[in-house]
Amino acid sequence: MIDSVLKYLPHNHPWADKIHYFDCVESTNTLAKDMARAGAPHGTVLIADRQTAGRGRLGRSFLSPGGMGIYMSVILRYHCTPEELMHLTCACGVHVCNGIEAVLQLRPGIKWINDLVCGQRKLAGILTELIITCSEVCAIVGIGLNCSQKTDDFDPQIRSLATSLAMITGQQPDRSQLIAGILQELLLMDRRLLSEKEALMAAYRTDCITIGQSVCVVQNESARHGKALDVLPDGALLVQFDDGSRRAVNSGEVSIRGMYGYI
Ligand code: BTN
Repeated sequence: MIDSVLKYLPHNHPWADKIHYFDCVESTNTLAKDMARAGAPHGTVLIADRQTAGRGRLGRSFLSPGGMGIYMSVILRYHCTPEELMHLTCACGVHVCNGIEAVLQLRPGIKWINDLVCGQRKLAGILTELIITCSEVCAIVGIGLNCSQKTDDFDPQIRSLATSLAMITGQQPDRSQLIAGILQELLLMDRRLLSEKEALMAAYRTDCITIGQSVCVVQNESARHGKALDVLPDGALLVQFDDGSRRAVNSGEVSIRGMYGYI
């Protein structure tokens, strides 16, 4: 797998000699955290063919069957405060979309904050996690992308909510080419993350399908309805609730009316 990714990656890509491939892991993010704590350098990439305990946002699981998706984590180290990385998930979302578009001429939308969607169904998810020390912030950027699943390959509970590149394009995607395309884009993201925050967030707003939609925000077991107005510079979703109040939402589940079964 590494050789076929390298075939598509420019030979001078600074992360090319830091790619690790695993047939099966619990979670590339969990392993990346262990490797980061043990000193793995900036740009270390972990790719797995299969995950037995792939994780998503809000403690959810991310189904990761062998050979059918891209399950990848990248270790990125920054000398800044955690607050300066609040837009990291958004920036990754935009650049993963760029990578998919560069390879397949297909641009997903982004459902706030970290789901890539096509035709109202989830295609991919991004899980960013931070390890904060006094000298730096280490970010683990995890990407799970459904590639070759057919409808029946998804669990019955998510069958009507999920999609794959094969279902969208009618063709089996080349995972190595996609991994290389995404790594190219994550390198560009890394280079502009701290210096081009406004441009990154402007691009995120363009991709974000949640803005302007009727939404339901579930936090601490209570559900509130409203309209998503904007995404703020730190990545929070600005919502106008039906009682007239306005709030920046930066945690919890946000469902869009008409999508993922919310009516
Ligand atoms: C989400 O859907 O909320 C995010 C899903 C992120 C899944 C990827 S797969 C590679 C990496 N390892 C994990 O355990 N999770 C991320």
